[in-house]
Amino acid sequence: MNQPNKIKVSIVGGSGYAGGELLRLLLNHPHVEVTQITSRSMAGKKVTLLHPNLRKATELRFIKPEELVECDLLFLAMPHGEVMGRLDEYLGKAKKIIDVSADFRLKNPADYPRWYDLIHPNPAYLDKFVCGLAELYREKIRTADLVSCFGCEATCSILSLYPLYKENLIDGPVFLDVKIGSSAAGAKSSAASHHPERANSVRSYKLTGHRHMAEIRQELAAANIFLSATAIEMVRGIVVTAQIMLNKDLNEADILNVYRQYYQKESFIRIINEKAGIYRFPEPKLLAGTNFCDIGFEKEEGTNRLVVVGAIDNLVKGTAGQAIQAMNLMYGWDERLSLEFMGLHPV
Ligand SMILES: NC(=O)c1ccc[n+]([C@@H]2O[C@H](COP(=O)([O-])OP(=O)(O)OC[C@H]3O[C@@H](n4cnc5c(N)ncnc54)[C@H](OP(=O)(O)O)[C@@H]3O)[C@@H](O)[C@H]2O)c1
Repeated sequence: MNQPNKIKVSIVGGSGYAGGELLRLLLNHPHVEVTQITSRSMAGKKVTLLHPNLRKATELRFIKPEELVECDLLFLAMPHGEVMGRLDEYLGKAKKIIDVSADFRLKNPADYPRWYDLIHPNPAYLDKFVCGLAELYREKIRTADLVSCFGCEATCSILSLYPLYKENLIDGPVFLDVKIGSSAAGAKSSAASHHPERANSVRSYKLTGHRHMAEIRQELAAANIFLSATAIEMVRGIVVTAQIMLNKDLNEADILNVYRQYYQKESFIRIINEKAGIYRFPEPKLLAGTNFCDIGFEKEEGTNRLVVVGAIDNLVKGTAGQAIQAMNLMYGWDERLSLEFMGLHPV
C-alpha cells in the first residue's frame, strides 16, 4: 500500500470531549496535520480556551462547520442523529470519514427506531461503514473509507467478552454491570452533571434498555446480554463486570489460554492475571489517557461461574484512540502511532 507521509485532517465537533481528545492525540501524530476543527458555539475562538491542556501545542481556532474545506480525512464527533441525515455534506469534504457517534454503528435499520427512537434516513450506508474496533475488524478497516466507532461502554463490553463468545463457552444470559465516569456524558452540562448532584455519586441511571446493548448483541451475535449502568465518582473511565456461567468445566488456566489466543498479539489489550498486589483486576484510573483495554477474570471454585472485568478510558479506547487506531490502519501506518502513552502511576 502507498503510505502518504502527511495527511490533512479535520474534526467536526471539536468543542466536545471526544473532539478535544482527538485533537490531543492527533497533535502528536507524525503523519497528520489537523487543519480545521469546528464548533458552532465557539467559532472564531482559540481551541485552547476549551482544551487548555493543548496550550503551546496548537494555535488552531474553531471554525463553523459550513466553513470546512476539503481534507483527506474527517473525524465526526457529534451527538448521535447529527450525521445520519447529512452524510452527503461531509462526504463532499473528505473521501475518508471516521464517525464516533452511533449513527452508523448498528447494521440493522430496524435497530434505530428500537434503540434510538428514530428512523434512519440513510440505511443504505449502514453496511458501507466498517466498524472501527481494530481487534475485531482490522482487515476490513485497512481498506475502508468509512468507519464507525463503537460506544465506550459497548467497546469495553465487547472486548471483554469476545473470546468467550467466539469459543462458544457461555451458558445462558450474561449480565453486565457498568460503572462509568462523568466525561462519558459529554461536555454539555445537565441537571445530572451539576457538581452537587454528580459528586460523590454511585447513581444507577440505566438499569434496563441501555442503547449500547444493541451494539454488544450485534457484535457478539447473542440476544441475551443485559447491561445496567451506574455513574460513579470518576471523570474518565469505565469498568465492566460481567457475570457469566460457563457451559463446561474450565479452570482459570484454560480461560487464560482462550484470552491469550485472541489477544496475545494485540498492542492495546492487556490480560491482567496477577495473584497478588492491589491491582489484581483492571482499574480504570491506571488507564486514563491510554488506549489500553485491560481484562481480568476470576473463576469461582466449585461452580461454573466466571466473573470477567474489563476497563478502558472512555475517551481514548472508547472513542478517540479507537478512531485513531482505525485511521492508522486505513493509511497502512503502525497502528500504535500517537497512542503509546503508558498512563500514570500514582495518579
Ligand atoms: N464522551 C465519551 O466518552 C464518548 C465515548 C464514545 C463515543 N462518544 C460519542 O462521541 C460523540 C461526541 O461525544 P462528546 O462526549 O464529545 O459530546 P459533546 O462533548 O457534547 O460534544 C459534541 C460536539 O458536537 C458539536 N455539535 C453538536 N451538534 C452539532 C451539529 N449539528 N453540527 C456540528 N457540530 C455539532 C458540539 O459543538 P457545537 O455545538 O459548539 O457545534 C460539540 O463540539 C457522541 O456521538 C458520543 O456518543 C462519546
